[in-house]
Formats: sequence, structure tokens, C-alpha cells
Amino acid sequence: MKEKNRLITQILLEYHGFDVSKYDDTFLNKTFRKRITQTLCNTTEEYYTLLKGKNKEGEIFFDSLNICYSHFFRNPLTFAVLERIILPELCLKTRYSKQKEIRVWSAACAAGQETYSLAMLLEELKNSDNEKINFRIFATDQSEIIINEAIEGRYSYNDLNNVNLKRVKQWFTKDGDAYTVNKELKKNIVFSVFDLLSDEFSCPPASIFGDFDLVICANLLFYYKPVYQKKILEKTGNSLTTDGFLITGEAERHILTRYNFSEVFPQSAIFNIGN
Ligand SMILES: C[S@@+](CC[C@H](N)C(=O)[O-])C[C@H]1O[C@@H](n2cnc3c(N)ncnc32)[C@H](O)[C@@H]1O
Repeated sequence: MKEKNRLITQILLEYHGFDVSKYDDTFLNKTFRKRITQTLCNTTEEYYTLLKGKNKEGEIFFDSLNICYSHFFRNPLTFAVLERIILPELCLKTRYSKQKEIRVWSAACAAGQETYSLAMLLEELKNSDNEKINFRIFATDQSEIIINEAIEGRYSYNDLNNVNLKRVKQWFTKDGDAYTVNKELKKNIVFSVFDLLSDEFSCPPASIFGDFDLVICANLLFYYKPVYQKKILEKTGNSLTTDGFLITGEAERHILTRYNFSEVFPQSAIFNIGN
């Protein structure tokens, strides 16, 4: 596998200028095997020849490494713990510390499903709280195309599978076959393009100073090699307040336990920085 990946990495860089060296070996190999099947190549050598040619295959291979799949309230246990324990606790903390607002970073937000799920929970808490706690969510993704989709906030009926009817009625407007997120839900969210692996900024410039109570960075770590996972975890971890929470995907929990993070509830994928 390693030798095949080395060759693919070299061809993509030499012939198309794409650097895929940061991607996890198993993921790269899976993509490679998928492209062999989809291009109907009979052998790996045949595929290497295709990839070296003047055609779109290099771009197609590179694009298929950027998985943007997401859905509302993905990882049900995580969202249940957030709704019932973590977010109410943050509201209390914010009120007693006289902090201006709860600050959240949705760090690889895809087309906004994760961000709007969090916003629904926070709006509901805010509306049930007499003292009206404020919040702001900074939502980022490396892809400008996907950020524009998130800003638009337009989804199909099937996309809303995990959103209960009450929330659909309250937060979306039906427009033909599509459902668009209402302005009311968008008003506390700032979307921007941000590459978690870039050395330029430690947190989204729109947030100015980071200091987040909660960062959600879910379902992207496992696409990267350990050295890049560490870099992303350092960046997101360093942007937290002292007792802030870092959330990953449920399938990525084992990555955080390798570093100095402790899970606040078993299996929840919600962590804070250990002692
Ligand atoms: C599989 S989606 C996960 C979306 C969402 N967090 C979730 O859990 O459903 C992965 C997202 O991570 C984004 N991404 C991948 N690498 C990134 C990076 N280096 N910086 C910022 N976003 C990145 C992709 O563009 C994609 O939208």
C-alpha cells in the first residue's frame, strides 16, 4: 500500500501540481482503488498511465479526497449530551461570569448542517432563559464553494431527516422542494473560509482572538496523517478557553485520547484538555 501511495502522490504532484502527502494512507489507498474501478482500468499500471495523461483524472482524484458529506444532528449521542448537559452548563457559566456571549467555532462545517444544528440548540436555550444569553458561532471550512452553500442554507426534504417537525417549522422556510434556513437562525453565525492546516492564522480572523467555549471539529481528522491530526488538534485545542470543550466525530475519539484530552462523558466525543 505504501509504495502505491508513494507513486500516486508523486504522479499527482509532478503531473498535476496537487500535493496529497498529508492524507492518511488507508484513505488514499481506498480512493485509489475506487478510481481504478470507476475508470474501468484493469491494472494499477493502466491507472498510473491514465493519471499521467493530459485529462481530468488528476483533478477528479484530488477532488474525491475532499469529502463534504454531513447531516443535521450527526452523531446523536454527542448532540444529546450537548443539548442536555454541556450547553445549559455553558449558559450558566456565561451568566455568572458576566461573559458577553458563548463563543463557538464550527471548524469544518461543510454545507452548514452541523452549524445550524448547534444554532438551533442554542436559540432554544436562549429562548427558554429569562436572562437571554447571547452566543456567536464562527463557522469555517477550507472550501469556498461549500461555505457559500452553508451561507445560502438551502436543503432538500431528505437532508432534514434528523430535524424534528417542530424545528423544521420554526427554523426553515419551504420554497418549492427546498427548505431554506430562516434569517433568525443565521443572525448569530459568521461563516468564513479557513484552512485548519494553514500556518497563517491560529483561529478564524473573524473571531479576532479565539477564546472559544466550544469547538467542534468533527469527521475530518481521520482523513489526515497523524502529524496533521496533531497540528489540527493543537490549533483547535489552543483556541479554547481554560475549561472549554472540543468535539470530534464519534469515530475519531481514539485520536484525541492519544493526546492530552479527556472525554467528559464516555462515548460522547466531547473532550476537554486534561491536567
Ligand atoms: C466529512 S465533512 C464533515 C462535516 C461536519 N464537520 C460533520 O461532522 O458532519 C469534512 C469537512 O472538512 C473540511 N475540511 C477538510 N480539511 C480541512 C481543512 N484542512 N481545513 C478546514 N476544513 C477542512 C471539508 O471541506 C469538509 O467540508
